[in-house]
Amino acid sequence: MNRKENCFLNEDCIEGCKKHIKDNSVDLIVTDPPYGINGHTLHKHYNRKEGYVLDGYIEIPQNEYPQFSEQWIKQAERILKPGGSIYIVSGYTHLIDILNALRKTKLKEINHIIWKYNFGVFTKNKFVTSHYHLLYYCKPGAKPTFNTYCRYGQNERDGGNGSLNYLDREDVWIINREYKPGKIKNKNELPTNLLTKIIQYSSRESDVVCDLFLGGFSTARIAVGLNRIAWGFELSASAYKHGMNEFSRVKKGALLQTLRKPEGGKLVNQGIRWSRKDLEEIAEKYDKLYQSSKLKRQSIDILSEELGRGYFSILNALKKMGR
Ligand SMILES: C[S@@+](CC[C@H](N)C(=O)[O-])C[C@H]1O[C@@H](n2cnc3c(N)ncnc32)[C@H](O)[C@@H]1O
Repeated sequence: MNRKENCFLNEDCIEGCKKHIKDNSVDLIVTDPPYGINGHTLHKHYNRKEGYVLDGYIEIPQNEYPQFSEQWIKQAERILKPGGSIYIVSGYTHLIDILNALRKTKLKEINHIIWKYNFGVFTKNKFVTSHYHLLYYCKPGAKPTFNTYCRYGQNERDGGNGSLNYLDREDVWIINREYKPGKIKNKNELPTNLLTKIIQYSSRESDVVCDLFLGGFSTARIAVGLNRIAWGFELSASAYKHGMNEFSRVKKGALLQTLRKPEGGKLVNQGIRWSRKDLEEIAEKYDKLYQSSKLKRQSIDILSEELGRGYFSILNALKKMGR
C-alpha cells in the first residue's frame, strides 16, 4: 500500500496484511475485531430491526478465536512502525484471548481503558453490561505519538476547578453510542467521538491509520475526515460495498474545523532549568498574587500562563522556595 493513498480491500486481513503491507509502515491501528459470539443472539440483544442491521458480518467460531487473535495481532505488530500505537476494542467474552495474544508480542501495554456506553443489554437478575475494553499498546523502538494538549490546554478548568486535560485523559471514557434511526448500519459501529479522541491523541495529520476489521468503515471515515491516510480490510463483500459507498461521501480534512481548540499559551519554557534568580522571582510574584486573595491553584495557573511553564514545574519551584 502507498503511504499517500487511502486503500481498502475486500480481503481477509491476515493474508491481506502479508500480501499488501510492508513491515514498520503504519502509524496507528484502531480496530474492533469480530466478537466470536453468535450473530443472531447479537441481533436479538441489541433489539434492532433485522432489516436495518447490515448482513454479511463475518464471525469467528469461538473455538478458533485464540488462534485467530494471535494471527492478526502478529500482523498488527509487524506492520506498526516503532513508536506506533494500537487500540483494540474488546468485549469481555474474548478479552482473555486478545490479552494472551498481545502477551506473545513485544507490544507494550500503555493503558487498559474502559469505554462506558449507553444502552447496555438489559438484564433483570444481574448487573447491566455497559462497557468495552480499549487495549492501548505501543510498538517499542521509538517515542510514541501522544498529543497531550490536543483537546484541552494545560490550564483549562471545569466549574469545580478540576483540570479538563486531566479529566479527558482518565482511563474511563464515557461516550454514547450513536443512534441512527432508519439507517442501514453495521451492527457495532463505533461512535465518532471515540474514534476522534483516539486519532487526535495518537496520530498526526498525514499519518497512516489502519483498521483490520473495517465493518462500517467508521475508523476510515474519521481518520480521513481528520486529514490522515486510511488503510484497511473487510472480509464481507456486502459490508465492504456498503462501507465504500459511505466512504465516498467523506471530505478529506472536513472534520478538522469541528474540533475544539485547546486554550492556553504554549509552554515555551517547559523543560528549561530554573536559575536561583528565576526561583526568587517566582516566589515574589506568587506572594503578591496570593496576598491579592488568589487561591493557590489560580495563582499557579496565572504564573504558568505568564512564564510559559507547566503547572507542576511551577508547583515544584514554589516548594523549593518554601511556599
Ligand atoms: C466488530 S465489526 C467492526 C465494526 C467497525 N469498527 C465499525 O465501526 O463499523 C468486525 C468486522 O470484521 C469483519 N471481519 C471478520 N473477519 C474478518 C477478517 N478475517 N478480515 C477482515 N475482516 C473481517 C466482519 O465482517 C465485521 O464487519
